[in-house]
Amino acid sequence: MSTIVQHPSPPASANCTPAEYDAHYQRSIDDPDGFWLEQAERLDWMTKPTKAGEWSFDPAEITWYADGSLNLCHNAVDRHFETRGDQTAFIFEPDDPATPGRSLTYRELHTEVVRMANALKAIGVSKGDRVTLYMPMIVEGAVAMLACARLGAIHSVVFGGFSPEALAGRIEACESRFVVTADEGLRGTKRVPLKANVDAALEFDGVDVSSVLVIKHTGGAIEMKEGRDHWYADVASDDECPCAEMNAEDPLFILYTSGSTGKPKGVLHTTGGYAVWVATTFHFTFDYQPGEVFWCSADIGWVTGHSYVTYGPLINGGTSVIFEGVPNYPDHGRFWEVIAKHQVNIFYTAPTAIRALMREGDDHVTKHDRSSLRILGTVGEPINPEAWRWYYEVVGESRCPIVDTWWQTETGGHMITTLPYASDMKPGSAGKPFFGVQLQLVDNDGNVLEGANEGNLCVTASWPGQARTVYGDHDRFIEAYFSTFKGKYFTGDGCRLDGDGFYWITGRVDDVINVSGHRMGTAEVESALVLHPAVAEAAVVGYPHDIKGQGIYCYVTTMEGVDETDELYAELRAHVRKEIGPIATPDHLHFTDGLPKTRSGKIMRRILRKIAENDYGSLGDTSTLADPSLVDRLIEGRQNR
Ligand code: WT7
Repeated sequence: MSTIVQHPSPPASANCTPAEYDAHYQRSIDDPDGFWLEQAERLDWMTKPTKAGEWSFDPAEITWYADGSLNLCHNAVDRHFETRGDQTAFIFEPDDPATPGRSLTYRELHTEVVRMANALKAIGVSKGDRVTLYMPMIVEGAVAMLACARLGAIHSVVFGGFSPEALAGRIEACESRFVVTADEGLRGTKRVPLKANVDAALEFDGVDVSSVLVIKHTGGAIEMKEGRDHWYADVASDDECPCAEMNAEDPLFILYTSGSTGKPKGVLHTTGGYAVWVATTFHFTFDYQPGEVFWCSADIGWVTGHSYVTYGPLINGGTSVIFEGVPNYPDHGRFWEVIAKHQVNIFYTAPTAIRALMREGDDHVTKHDRSSLRILGTVGEPINPEAWRWYYEVVGESRCPIVDTWWQTETGGHMITTLPYASDMKPGSAGKPFFGVQLQLVDNDGNVLEGANEGNLCVTASWPGQARTVYGDHDRFIEAYFSTFKGKYFTGDGCRLDGDGFYWITGRVDDVINVSGHRMGTAEVESALVLHPAVAEAAVVGYPHDIKGQGIYCYVTTMEGVDETDELYAELRAHVRKEIGPIATPDHLHFTDGLPKTRSGKIMRRILRKIAENDYGSLGDTSTLADPSLVDRLIEGRQNR
């Protein structure tokens, strides 16, 4: 395959042609206020904004549409039920295809959201309160998000795969007094004990939750604590429940994400700018057309699920699939079976899933009808050209453009992306910047790198979907994103710009790793490891992994007298899994008698990364190490794996 795959010629309905991309992009740079006030018309405002972006990156203070007011639930639900009440809003596809699914029209969704909002009110939630959602991938998860938005409460969704410990930390950090959960979740053949995990999380010191709202999903046995726990069905009601008027800069949600240091950060998104950003990116990136079925396979526990399962599709009046299951249950054809069953037109998933399914052979794909598919998308990590080619040729029959979308929890929505009929595709490149996105590559000293070049990826101007702060800790927001390169938003990613203006993300340049498209702080895994009594020190790095993109490689020194047995190996893996959750399970533990440190005691991670990558030729200068002979022992340990 040539390195460029040309975009199909734009149909009359195309939301963006090549010429329109150029014109919109230019205008968004020349007249950002005019451009973004125009895009804001995608929403119903209670008070129309007269101002767009007012911001500074030094010090970081960001607002958009600050004199406007609106309600996001109204924009996602209420306003559609007058014009398209009978149209399907959500299609629910359960974990087990043998059990019945469900679909909701906009009218039915409105009823559900009002019921949920009344249930939240009944347990004491009001405007400005933080509500933690710890949910399976069922309609009620999205409904609870929308119900919070209706009341002006701030949702904080915690991925259902996180441990009670991790959940407790995220409840405590935003002083959330309310949790919404379900009895259990289902993933393939496994049951996830969500309510039991909540019970365990609420035992931690510092967690002060007054009410738990429980949705009956599997009907599995759980304990209900009198006075604290409420079944959803008991407190829901159809009473009238108007949408609260929110200022554009009122918080919409908090989402915890990993950084290079410390505990996860509570990234805060506000209402108006986020809504405009997801509405606009959804419209253009997916070329969404009325009546089409859109399926984003991400969990609502991640930002992808926030922006492209719930808010983006609904603000655009679209039909969005909510899939509870996993790609390999009951078999490896599950994705394609769901696509055929619901006649999905636009499918959006992660490279890790594509790589895993590619291994299982084409038959799982080709035996299902994919003629409904029109556009394919990827997100979460760089896609290797081999997986891209398989997705394009086998899944999409070489007729569906692939949009590779680069963005982050902090960006709210797409930042660099292919547009289906407006940009050519280069397998492995996310393409060109979205409207209003101004990128810059800089070297480690902050010097701007002009033209085709490779360096640290920064954004030099604010965009409406940008996170406004880290909840409760604006200094940390400034420190994490605006101080490495003063006056610029630093993404944490390395990137190459080629001569055709295409951006190629090369991966994180900080101590964050990307495991199956999930962001993980190496520091978090290290903290979990050293909590174990057998562990003295730990250093964690990423290394290339065929399916996951990156695997978790842990160097561990043990306490005096501890035997480094297979049992300990298994125990430490289980320990990290319990502390953080299954997604953080180490792929490899490397017991060592020491970690490579400088004489001043700083761990030389660069060396650990290289050794984990099996790349011994370019270890660089090791003479400054306190114990240079350690390197040979580490290499030996790696090779004896
Ligand atoms: C990090 C953000 C964006 C939603 C999912 C992850 C990596 C994301 C791509 C892509 C190459 C990508 C980056 C980024 N990433 N999309 N299309 N190509 N890398 O959100 O957990 O905030 O992680 O994911 O490294 O910084 P997140």
